[in-house]
Amino acid sequence: MNIDILTLFPEMFTAVTSSILGKAGEKGILDIRLTNIRDYSMDKHKKADDYPFGGGAGMVLLADPVFRAMEAVKAEGKRSLYMSPRGRILDQELIQQLAQEKELVILCGHYEGVDQRILDYWNMEEVSIGDYVLTGGELPAMVLIDSVARMIPDVLSSSHAALDESVYSGLLEYPQYTKPRNYRDMEVPEVLVSGNHKNIHLWKLEQSLRLTKQRRPDLFRKFLSKGESLTKEEK
Ligand code: ADE
Repeated sequence: MNIDILTLFPEMFTAVTSSILGKAGEKGILDIRLTNIRDYSMDKHKKADDYPFGGGAGMVLLADPVFRAMEAVKAEGKRSLYMSPRGRILDQELIQQLAQEKELVILCGHYEGVDQRILDYWNMEEVSIGDYVLTGGELPAMVLIDSVARMIPDVLSSSHAALDESVYSGLLEYPQYTKPRNYRDMEVPEVLVSGNHKNIHLWKLEQSLRLTKQRRPDLFRKFLSKGESLTKEEK
């Protein structure tokens, strides 16, 4: 997958170009390309923003440098996203969908936003990472890239990826333990060291169901209704 990121702060993206995602880059699975919007400003001071027409607080990204940057990454016909608290909330369903794309373009806004004509002309989908406002779209873009990248085959080791396809998908994760079996008098649940795989599987599922029901009744209901529609299909 190729991801073009348009931003005024390309240096922020070392977080996703190193680590696991950096390895995906080396393997040729994921190519993250950074474009500095300011490089496309025709202004002698490399200005990239200005005051909004009609007044109001903050600055708005200028149409021209963003337009030229979109042309430079050949955004025409590619799925183009604009990170914005006004957008559709990013969830696992959207993440799975985005992970199918060969090409993505992500525009990171700053200040009060971007000239609306950019969003209209390039038919940009607005995506929010939650109902809170950050100072820019860079952190949201990194959240999106990280979550999309881990759904691309071979980005994670196979043992990681398999979990998402399993019966647990849509549920919160069960508690995890590692060595030692006894730590400061706190024991690992007996079943996990029993070697009985059927019981271990049942314990994990039970824990996932319990946590999801308790903490996220919305996800729990969704999980139950998914099960119902599956059994209907089988009939
Ligand atoms: N830019 C500022 N806040 C944001 C949010 N919550 N999601 C996406 N982009 C943003």
